[in-house]
Amino acid sequence: MTDSLTITRPDDWHLHLRDGDMLRAVLPETARHFGRAIIMPNLVPPVVTGDQAAAYRDRILSALPEDMSFTPLMTLYLTEETDPDDVAAAHASGLVTAVKLYPAGATTNSASGVTNFDKVRPVLEKMAEIGLPLCTHGEVTDPDIDIFDREAVFIDRVLDPIRQATPGLRVVMEHITTANAADYVRSHGTVDGGDLGATITTHHLIINRNAILVGGIKPHYYCLPVAKREEHRLALRAAATSADKRFFLGTDSAPHTDANKLSACGCAGCFTATNTMALLAHVFEEDGALDHLEGFASQHGPAFYRLPENTSTLTLVKTDEPVHVPQSIVTPDGPVTVFDPGFPIHWTVA
Ligand code: DOR
Ligand code: ZN
Repeated sequence: MTDSLTITRPDDWHLHLRDGDMLRAVLPETARHFGRAIIMPNLVPPVVTGDQAAAYRDRILSALPEDMSFTPLMTLYLTEETDPDDVAAAHASGLVTAVKLYPAGATTNSASGVTNFDKVRPVLEKMAEIGLPLCTHGEVTDPDIDIFDREAVFIDRVLDPIRQATPGLRVVMEHITTANAADYVRSHGTVDGGDLGATITTHHLIINRNAILVGGIKPHYYCLPVAKREEHRLALRAAATSADKRFFLGTDSAPHTDANKLSACGCAGCFTATNTMALLAHVFEEDGALDHLEGFASQHGPAFYRLPENTSTLTLVKTDEPVHVPQSIVTPDGPVTVFDPGFPIHWTVA
């Protein structure tokens, strides 16, 4: 039996840190375990320009406790007014690592996102030219498309046409939730993760849509893209644990206060920063793939983003007794519930 596992320090390739009091409360939860994270730009107002990204990075670094080290990798929020030259300058200066595409109305704070994809063509062409990755929230928002089909339809109607029209554009399909998305990555991305990769969250490896709806509605399991049928969860598990370099960890840890989750119109998001690494150790062990956890959490992401792997390590230890994880973290805005996998966890970060 494996009772401890030391891996290269992991990175989180999709993270929501918010701002102000919430930023100060949640940042240590990520910085404790992760070396870097791709920081989502869906603030209010969104992080659209290079200047806004620089200011947000400064606020993140000032919120970081002195005894922690952590590198925020900044992103720009793509709008129909985004200036290709501003994007190129932010990339050239090393400020931004990716640009984020939200279809308008797809999720939390996505109102400034894209409706007419032709309008962002010049930005996408510039990004292909300079090698700057596009991170996609892959869901269509057409009201006639069922919410459980929105990812699969996005691939056909939006993603594939964009990729065909923009050779060389590097794309990360974020927080994939379907076998369709995993299959698309495998059949269209080169094996070494050249121009197409996908992130997978911790929670989508653990819950299917029954978790949200059976035995009473469970708002803490509601996120976007919404969890799908069990067959899709199993497909995500297979992709994550397979050692395929095109798949890597992006937690999409998304803090909302309990007041905003437990509401007649609750916010989407699962907060997993606190226990993600322990949960992943459980998942990978359950699938007999503990030796592939390091690739998924620490190696495939840097390879895609053409960054060095972290030089420090993280050790996970197996425990006899189930590990106690706080039910929520305290923030000045109110408690934020930590994702509950629904089963005991016997792994902890040393
Ligand atoms: O569940 C989600 N929460 N999905 C997203 O795409 C956004 C995120 C958030 O910002 O809360
Ligand atoms: Zn997200």
